[in-house]
Amino acid sequence: MADQIDINIFKPYLSLKKTYKGGITKDELSKGGNKIYKLSSNENILGSSPKAIEAIRQNLDLLHEYPDRTDAKLREALSTFYKGELSPDHFIAASSGSEVLDITIRGFMDNGLECIVSNPFFLPYQMFSKWQNAEVIDVPMNTSDWSLDVQGMLDRITDKTRLLFLTSPNNPTGTYIPKATLDQIIHNVPSHVIVVLDEVYYHFADAPDFSTAVEYVKEGYQVIALNSFSKAFGLASLRIGYAYTTPKISAYLRQLAKPFLINRLSLEAGIAALGDAEFLTKTRNTIIEERNWLYTQLDEIGIHYWKSQANFILIKCPVDQQDFVDAMLEDGVMVRPAANFGAPGCIRVTIGDREANVAYINALKKLSV
Ligand SMILES: Cc1ncc(COP(=O)(O)O)c(C=O)c1O
Repeated sequence: MADQIDINIFKPYLSLKKTYKGGITKDELSKGGNKIYKLSSNENILGSSPKAIEAIRQNLDLLHEYPDRTDAKLREALSTFYKGELSPDHFIAASSGSEVLDITIRGFMDNGLECIVSNPFFLPYQMFSKWQNAEVIDVPMNTSDWSLDVQGMLDRITDKTRLLFLTSPNNPTGTYIPKATLDQIIHNVPSHVIVVLDEVYYHFADAPDFSTAVEYVKEGYQVIALNSFSKAFGLASLRIGYAYTTPKISAYLRQLAKPFLINRLSLEAGIAALGDAEFLTKTRNTIIEERNWLYTQLDEIGIHYWKSQANFILIKCPVDQQDFVDAMLEDGVMVRPAANFGAPGCIRVTIGDREANVAYINALKKLSV
């Protein structure tokens, strides 16, 4: 029988014009056996924490059993990871940073309520808010240096505002929000507004005035700090993430977690990865060293780029964007156009190991001559 559904029963606000699709996988490319350097999804070029992989092996015989009912074990491990500065009560964990974001937005956004974002931003802030039929107010960044229009953001706060999104380091720009700017925003939002500070790339930051939200949360400010195991821990496939915030907010948000939200392998791998300081240090050092090397190369070629505190660098595309992506692919380098992230004419390139970075730079040289 033909599909007779009356589409008038579909919620109109769920038919979004712009959705986040994520970058393509290597398998989606017909690559003809050539080596592919995937520099398009900000993954960890060094792979995964070996301790996490071992934890997965140890748990493979238990897949028929449900995992822990809650995230309590992981929250304990997170408290230890943060050296006891935050207690397990501060945390909420879920099956990816995106899921924690969705829980946060479900917790605070609703029809008639508003959130504030700054273009270019991680599209799910907007997408998940629209799922709640909420209003998304964009106060764009300054396009020359991607700094925030702080006064503009504060001015757009109304009685209906509930969430204000900040990302540091930011995706796709790689830029960060200096501590003084964070102070200015966090100290000045009214008590009905929560600042969501997305810090999933924080491990890669080395600027002296870079700050996470730990001190703010300890002091009791209404900040939700979003984190992920997808980047520095190298566990993007497992889908695991967390946030820390005031105990009151985290208890409120934990009510929204679905039963058995975190699968056993992710939970155990996440806990093991938190204890793998060696892998984390190696990852951070590699990114910082390669980032500096890439700056020198980009300067030599004369490519316009923005200094980054993340594991990727945004460049101004020297030729037509699609031609650029295609030419890179010819040389086996996958990169990500940033137009969909709100930075038209720019390309986001993940920092790889030296071999991958050399492949990228060589491909770039061919394009720029
Ligand atoms: C800025 C930002 N926030 C959050 C996430 C979500 O990470 P995940 O859902 O993989 O944990 C990402 C992923 O790329 C991101 O770039």
